[in-house]
Amino acid sequence: MARKLAAGNWKMNGTRASLAEAKALADAFPTPSVDIVLCPPTTLVASMATALQGTAVATGGQDCHQNVSGAHTGDTSAELLVDAGASHVILGHSERRADHGETDALVRAKTEAAVAAGLIAVVCVGETLAEREAGETLAVVRAQLQGSLPDAIDAAKIVIAYEPVWAIGTGKVPTLEQIGEVHTDMRAALSDRYGQDAQSLPLLYGGSVKPSNAADIFAVADVDGALVGGASLKAADFSGIVAALQEA
Ligand code: 13P
Repeated sequence: MARKLAAGNWKMNGTRASLAEAKALADAFPTPSVDIVLCPPTTLVASMATALQGTAVATGGQDCHQNVSGAHTGDTSAELLVDAGASHVILGHSERRADHGETDALVRAKTEAAVAAGLIAVVCVGETLAEREAGETLAVVRAQLQGSLPDAIDAAKIVIAYEPVWAIGTGKVPTLEQIGEVHTDMRAALSDRYGQDAQSLPLLYGGSVKPSNAADIFAVADVDGALVGGASLKAADFSGIVAALQEA
């Protein structure tokens, strides 16, 4: 069985005042039965990790460089995230792939760097609307998994997030059947590649997850949690999602 994870992606949102939301979330779940992580913008990683010290809520980054250090202006290495107090990092988010031209090969290099630094890598995959309408969803997701993940993995250090690009921030959610189809196929592809270890890889769904739809999504086979954008910014919203995952 894969462990369950509720992950919040704050994207380019949040100031120091927003740390109160992170603390409120931690106060709401002093002893959760699922893993919880918030991934704020880089400017807040260190202060959030400090604010959440001693709580059950972890802190993560939203990207890292594939190199350990060096002349890479504006970038953040996995080692720097660890030094700031992060335990997780989101990699290969569709917004990074679209805005910064990140390829599967680059995401793989970043994943290797993150795991080497001791971080848990949350690796994102997902099809565009055009790819879904062309009937290419499973092939696209399989190819992204194949290209974005190392050949040898530590199952405790990798999380997969399936985020259909067309469902992100749009309020549109695939049907439960569509989510189930992709998650079951991802598990099969990962089992072919990694054997028994694939059973313990958490497979998150992401894209317009809200407190109102979370329970239905978490009831789908092979869905082990969620990667949440907008609804992770407020503790009141994200708490409903975490609670639904605990009850799933
Ligand atoms: P929304 O939950 O805002 O749709 O964002 C999903 C996402 O991209 C999380 O990484």
